[in-house]
Amino acid sequence: MHHISKPKKKKASAIANSNIALIKYWGKRDDELHLPYNNSISVTLSGLFTHTTVDFNKEYSQDVLILNGKRIKPDNDKYKYIAKFLNSLRKSFPQKLSGLKIKIVSKNNFPTGAGLASSASGFAALTAACNEALGLGLDKRQLSILARRGSGSAARSIFGGFVEWHKGSNQDGSDSYASQIADKNYWPEFKIIICTTNTKEKEIKSRAGMRTTIKTCPFYSGWLKTIKHDIEIARQAITEKDFSSLGQIAETNCLKLHALMITTYPPIIYWNESTISLIRSILNWRKEGLECYFTIDAGPQVKILCRNSDTATIIKKLKDMTFIKNIKLSQPGSGVKISNFHLF
Ligand code: PMV
Repeated sequence: MHHISKPKKKKASAIANSNIALIKYWGKRDDELHLPYNNSISVTLSGLFTHTTVDFNKEYSQDVLILNGKRIKPDNDKYKYIAKFLNSLRKSFPQKLSGLKIKIVSKNNFPTGAGLASSASGFAALTAACNEALGLGLDKRQLSILARRGSGSAARSIFGGFVEWHKGSNQDGSDSYASQIADKNYWPEFKIIICTTNTKEKEIKSRAGMRTTIKTCPFYSGWLKTIKHDIEIARQAITEKDFSSLGQIAETNCLKLHALMITTYPPIIYWNESTISLIRSILNWRKEGLECYFTIDAGPQVKILCRNSDTATIIKKLKDMTFIKNIKLSQPGSGVKISNFHLF
């Protein structure tokens, strides 16, 4: 009797949320493997996600990438980043990928490349989809290591809630992965309001920016010296659900990061006028007793950390600030998930 073996499923989809670092990562000790100089802590953001479908097939003549409905050409940086990721995947699993090309269709429900960590959700979703389609059987830690090869911050988006990425010390990156500090339901009081001030793609990508900082910023070694302290305070604040302590350390750490960027040469200034207006407003609101804090990544968008009980008041104030392009309420979100809904 002949067994007709079922054709192996080579198509899969995954959905991953973006994340915002509360203690930031900036600078790599290994550019190829994306190994950071410092640990970082983030919160995975509900409602800001990438949905990705992959299909591995012998029939495709080359790797194809369709991002937000547009075919991305091989000379585009985004294609190159993904090609690099695929290279490392092919090197790690030569048999599984032998002779196969990939088609990737990916969609973000928020602006791409504007400092809202689309590379984090993008590579986390891509990694999980590849794992599923090829039946690699990787656990979350291994997924985090693999996602890191696409983009550093993607290592954190594998997990939901509050997450720490351990810098590790091994040369091969085998101990540089993220782990969960607390899950998405742990602290319902903790909210994040995302204020988009400009949806355009930034001119300086984080990976190029951090390289220039290491080379030219006189304060980089000082930054690194303060990280252990910041990480410990943040971890403890999360454990104790101490909103003031977490907000303060996140805001201070963010300003330290931007001080590094500004004192890099050529300078990296991600803020625009609206970013500064928002910073000033938040500092004033705090003086008036409305306790909230800001954090900003490699872009002009401002993320406000606040208590659930204050969200309505803050959003009302933000709505009067007509220069803000978009206001979105978010909270600790879930880690990467496999989806049965395929984009093609
Ligand atoms: O890993 P990348 O290339 O997305 O860089 C992330 C850099 C920051 O967003 C500024 C900080 C961070 O830890 O997410």
